[in-house]
Amino acid sequence: MDQYIESSGVRIYLSDNTYTPREDSFLMYDCILEYFTGTNQPIVEIGTGSGFTIIQVCSKWTNLTNIATDISLDACLLTLKNAKTNRIDNLHIVRTDLCLPFRKGDHLSTVIFNPPYLPADPDTDGMMSESELHQLVGGKKGYEIANRLVNIENLSGSQILIIISSLSTNPVQFAKFHNTRNVQVIRTLHLGFETIWILLIKVMT
Ligand SMILES: C[S@@+](CC[C@H](N)C(=O)[O-])C[C@H]1O[C@@H](n2cnc3c(N)ncnc32)[C@H](O)[C@@H]1O
Repeated sequence: MDQYIESSGVRIYLSDNTYTPREDSFLMYDCILEYFTGTNQPIVEIGTGSGFTIIQVCSKWTNLTNIATDISLDACLLTLKNAKTNRIDNLHIVRTDLCLPFRKGDHLSTVIFNPPYLPADPDTDGMMSESELHQLVGGKKGYEIANRLVNIENLSGSQILIIISSLSTNPVQFAKFHNTRNVQVIRTLHLGFETIWILLIKVMT
């Protein structure tokens, strides 16, 4: 039988080759509720995985038509399945690298990303499938994909919620990479072997 989880009245089917929502996904959704409740701007979720976060957003704020992207076709198809299961019709799903096809402006005013954030490990990465690498490994140091997103030109003027991990970097170091942006730590979660932070980044125009 297909496995699923339920959250806020939404049912999310899971799949072996797509990221299963966990602490970081739950933390991201909590932050969206805290920071974006009442927004009238669409939310763009990069790397949507199963669609766990954006489908709850779509279900809660039916006045917004939001966007989900993922580099993995399996993740996009699972998000589509989960959108249909929950009768969500205010979501566009796009298979792409980050948010590269979109033009700057209103559609990119609010962007969220729970990126792959672990550093590459030559001893074990060879045993992972391509989709597992996309889910978990953010580059040689671990923060490269997060850095790429924050530096994308079409995000000037946007606010970005993004997760970083102590296994790769820390808020002070990450803010130094982006010293022309306003970087604020809004949540810290200790997970035993690592700490993750959610950063709110305001990209100046
Ligand atoms: C840590 S998982 C998060 C999934 C989901 N947002 C969640 O919180 O449960 C990272 C997701 O980012 C996707 N991803 C990795 N690199 C990407 C890229 N360059 N562009 C878009 N999505 C990417 C992966 O396929 C994966 O679904």
